[in-house]
Amino acid sequence: MTAPPPLLEIRGLRKSYGTRPVLDGLDLVLPPGIHALLGPNGAGKTTLIKILSTLLPHDGGTVRVLGLDPRRDRRRLQGLLSLTGQFAAVDGALTCTENLEMIGRLFGLPGSLARTRAAEQLERFELTRARSTRAATLSGGMRRKLDIAAGLLSRPRLVILDEPTTGLDTRSRQVLWEEIRGLAAEGTSVLLTTQYLEEADALAEQVHVLDRGRIVAGGTTQELKALVGGAVVRILDQDGAVLEELATTGTAPDLAARLAEAAHRFPTATASIHRPTLDDVFLHLTEAGPSADPDGAATAPSVAPVRV
Ligand SMILES: Nc1ncnc2c1ncn2[C@@H]1O[C@H](COP(=O)(O)OP(=O)(O)O)[C@@H](O)[C@H]1O
Ligand SMILES: [Mg+2]
Repeated sequence: MTAPPPLLEIRGLRKSYGTRPVLDGLDLVLPPGIHALLGPNGAGKTTLIKILSTLLPHDGGTVRVLGLDPRRDRRRLQGLLSLTGQFAAVDGALTCTENLEMIGRLFGLPGSLARTRAAEQLERFELTRARSTRAATLSGGMRRKLDIAAGLLSRPRLVILDEPTTGLDTRSRQVLWEEIRGLAAEGTSVLLTTQYLEEADALAEQVHVLDRGRIVAGGTTQELKALVGGAVVRILDQDGAVLEELATTGTAPDLAARLAEAAHRFPTATASIHRPTLDDVFLHLTEAGPSADPDGAATAPSVAPVRV
């Protein structure tokens, strides 16, 4: 048996709108699994997603999704993936059931199978009670679930979610996270974009940070956090207010030395030790990192090993 192709294999990807480069020599190789692409607004996430899902041709470089070229193998690839956008693609005038059945038919399923799959998806996404509700009157969270349910009717190998929880309340976000975890548990690969660090942290096995058209760091969330340092020590006064924050290597001698020094300066203070958050990583990479250079004369970040 031959090894399955990587989920994504992208080398030197370039894309400009007019003369303006948006993706600028992007490299990314990902195995099957749950992956998050993290980046600030305007980083190029949606552009990349559109290229991967055959909606937008790229200008240069090579792109393979599930081993297929989105330009040459468009039809085959479309049959293997599902794309759910930030803006729900369901028809507001139709009920949940009607939407799902219609999309099943669009995927070429015979009517009876479209009906069966529609019912399955309603059940799975806890939308059964809303089956006869017109999509226009659903809450934002339910509408997003319907959108994802529709994308899954075709049983895709890869589900691409472009900022699936942007604009949702905490509860709806949690429900969607559960669904995304459920997909992964069934062996479906997921590529999601997000601006939320906690979302990447909660869901993804690997996180890649996209900034100004390039991948500036990647790895497991643990590996990314390690870029910032092993541990952050907070020195607190009696009321719990932070007097000082110290980045440490996280090794016991370093921690002991820093604490001793702090104890000398703040004899009555207390201290707490934290692992860095993805927020720390993100700030570290996108502000202090090379792309913060106003001239754009970026050099390779020495602290950001990109795993390929
Ligand atoms: N169709 C388009 N025409 C011109 N510029 C675009 C177009 N789509 C996106 N852009 C620009 O490309 C950059 C990246 O956009 P996008 O891929 O949507 O980023 P993200 O999804 O990370 O917010 C932004 O500066 C955006 O304004
Ligand atoms: Mg976007």
